[in-house]
Amino acid sequence: MLLENKNAVVYGAAGSIGRAVARAFAREGAQVFLAGRTLSSLQKVVEEMKSEGGTAEAAPVDALNQEAIEKHLNEVVQKAGRIDISFNAVWIRGDLQGTPLLDMPAEDFTVPVLTGIKTHFLTGTAAARHMVQQKSGVILTLSSSSSVLSGRDRRYHLTGGFSTACAAIEAFSRSLAGEIGPAGVRVVCMRPDAIPETWSGDVANVKAYMEDGTVLGRLPQLNEVANAACLMASDHASAMTGSIANLTCGSFME
Ligand SMILES: NC(=O)c1ccc[n+]([C@@H]2O[C@H](COP(=O)([O-])OP(=O)(O)OC[C@H]3O[C@@H](n4cnc5c(N)ncnc54)[C@H](OP(=O)(O)O)[C@@H]3O)[C@@H](O)[C@H]2O)c1
Repeated sequence: MLLENKNAVVYGAAGSIGRAVARAFAREGAQVFLAGRTLSSLQKVVEEMKSEGGTAEAAPVDALNQEAIEKHLNEVVQKAGRIDISFNAVWIRGDLQGTPLLDMPAEDFTVPVLTGIKTHFLTGTAAARHMVQQKSGVILTLSSSSSVLSGRDRRYHLTGGFSTACAAIEAFSRSLAGEIGPAGVRVVCMRPDAIPETWSGDVANVKAYMEDGTVLGRLPQLNEVANAACLMASDHASAMTGSIANLTCGSFME
């Protein structure tokens, strides 16, 4: 198992990506602390993880509130002894898309940017303060292929502030990696393309169009994002920091 004896905190753990990653961390042997907005939804994920043989517990934590994040992390460290992995999958207002920039109110443009960078700054730096003391740990952030919009997206650009938010999260991840690397702490940003399983409604046309713009001819699945997160969080990726885990199936190549 990749993550045996590791303690992980997952923010937004009741969401599509958070839940998939939390379950994968547990399957790989980590003790997982689920954090998020709605305790009842988190508890359902805990039950699911326990039925799969994992170790997990949940707590309500507003991932935009510094005091709440730090109080929760202190409790985790007191209980588990250390924090090895922090992963933030909190929703960053991706709903504020679909309006041309020329028609978009400044407020709608800036909300995803401020939400995305604030939650990643708060959870990343809170974990880093513990990890720097320990001289080990991995912080995983989350952006999307919107950070590097390609020509494929010409029909569906209209990402408002979401693409700027994703680019900012990636830049923040590199800055943080540079500052805490000397203490042996790593930062990797997960960058999935759109994951159709997480969509609702009639998405066939958009899905076909987006798939056509990838090298693999398809979009990523939740289990692929979760497996990649396990690898990035594990000691097998110990030389990787300040990196982007490009999970776009080749819609963007670097
Ligand atoms: N889905 C995709 O196709 C995709 C692809 C690439 C990147 N992403 C990125 O991944 C993020 C998450 O996507 P998702 O599909 O997993 O979203 P999701 O299913 O909506 O899950 C987001 C989770 O974040 C929680 N949350 C929201 N605000 C919070 C706060 N202040 N504090 C703590 N938890 C909070 C939500 O809590 P509640 O349960 O209370 O609502 C929810 O459980 C997106 O914002 C996007 O940046 C998504």
